[in-house]
Amino acid sequence: MKLRENKFKGKLNKLAEKLNKSIDIDKRLVFYDIEGSLAHCKMLFKQNIINEADYKNITEGLIEIKNDLLNGKLKVDESFEDIHSYIEGELTKRKGESGKKIHTARSRNDQVAVDMKMYCKDKNKEIIKLLKNLIENIIIIGQKNLNTIMPGYTHLQIAQPVTFSHYILSYAQMFLRDIKRLKNSYDLMDENPLGSCALSTTTYNIDRFMTSELLNFKKPTENSMDSVSDRDYVIEMSFCIAMIMMHLSRFCEEIILYSSNEFKFIKLSDEFTTGSSIMPQKKNPDMAELIRGKSARCYGNLISLLTMMKALPMTYAKDMQEDKEILFDSIDTAQISIEVFSSMISSMQINKERMKENALEGFINATDLADYLVKKNMPFRDAYRIVGEIVHDAMEKNLKLNDIKLSDYKKYSKLFDEDLYSAIDLNNIVEQRKVYGSPQKDFVKIQIDNLKNEVKNI
Ligand code: ARG
Repeated sequence: MKLRENKFKGKLNKLAEKLNKSIDIDKRLVFYDIEGSLAHCKMLFKQNIINEADYKNITEGLIEIKNDLLNGKLKVDESFEDIHSYIEGELTKRKGESGKKIHTARSRNDQVAVDMKMYCKDKNKEIIKLLKNLIENIIIIGQKNLNTIMPGYTHLQIAQPVTFSHYILSYAQMFLRDIKRLKNSYDLMDENPLGSCALSTTTYNIDRFMTSELLNFKKPTENSMDSVSDRDYVIEMSFCIAMIMMHLSRFCEEIILYSSNEFKFIKLSDEFTTGSSIMPQKKNPDMAELIRGKSARCYGNLISLLTMMKALPMTYAKDMQEDKEILFDSIDTAQISIEVFSSMISSMQINKERMKENALEGFINATDLADYLVKKNMPFRDAYRIVGEIVHDAMEKNLKLNDIKLSDYKKYSKLFDEDLYSAIDLNNIVEQRKVYGSPQKDFVKIQIDNLKNEVKNI
């Protein structure tokens, strides 16, 4: 079915035809298009808009097309403008007059919207599943490292000791929010636009509640004009993905840093590193770098979609055809990135000794030394100043806080006593933080239990 058959005398310019076409991209929607048509056809029959013979022919034709595509007997003919005109054309080729009736009380405008919503809903669920798996993998690593001391950083400067468990679980929290964001957007997109037709519904007595049920939507959309011009759900998917990629990218940045010779906190498995063509010693964290790099295109995709929509008058405009290539790219990128990342961290080795060693550097226990004085009733600001002096002097003498003798400590304050050394011991520092949400292991265990529960109930 070539859509220009009657009213246009001249043929479409060759290049214009190329620009106009979207089938090479939207053929991905083919099974959603068939599913939508099957539901539409069933509804047309129930409402006495088409007769039983047409209903049977159309249904049979669509199922045949679906099966032929699935078993490779049929290939999408890319000479058509888009997937919608192709399916209608193929149906008409097979079922003649009946096939020509499928587009009764429908427009490509509501057709493309319903196809895209069904596609987004499925992908939304798939991405949630991948994120769940990622969180589960993080939890496994977390459980093995409840006592693994590592330096915590601010400004990438050594700050206070934490555990590797608490550190890595911080990402699980981000991914859990990403899941919730996806679920929220799923909920918003779960309304069926089919039956809105071009923009103002139709004079046929269609039943939009029936197609909603058949296509597994919560309900029909409320406003036909909104239905054919809304692309919020595409943008939201793209935003959710941009956020996931941002989280992955930060994580990747740390994987890259922590696997470097300078840190040596972790070692990536050979499966996820590559060599250099010239430097025989190299083991490069390419996967982490690529995922970090790919976050950029996902941000770009989000901005492209927002910009594409920003000045479109109601209702449909062909600009919207551009949404697919952009969204598909974000979805593909997110899916492979999450999956690769998940396996990459599950197979990495964690160098506990090195992390502990590193944590001893940089006066990581200075805050706790000040708190020691505060607990002996010194105002915090005074304690802060005194410890500042101690750190300054220790730096000059190349000493760590643990190396300074008690007699020397006493020169700074009489409040110092033998127990100061246990107060600034790294294990104790973490152990004493008995606060909800802290790196202390009992609280990390609570964190893990809560995470597991949340993930289970998603
Ligand atoms: N290929 C089109 C798209 O993806 C389908 C809708 C076409 N509608 C129209 N009125 N030209 O947006």
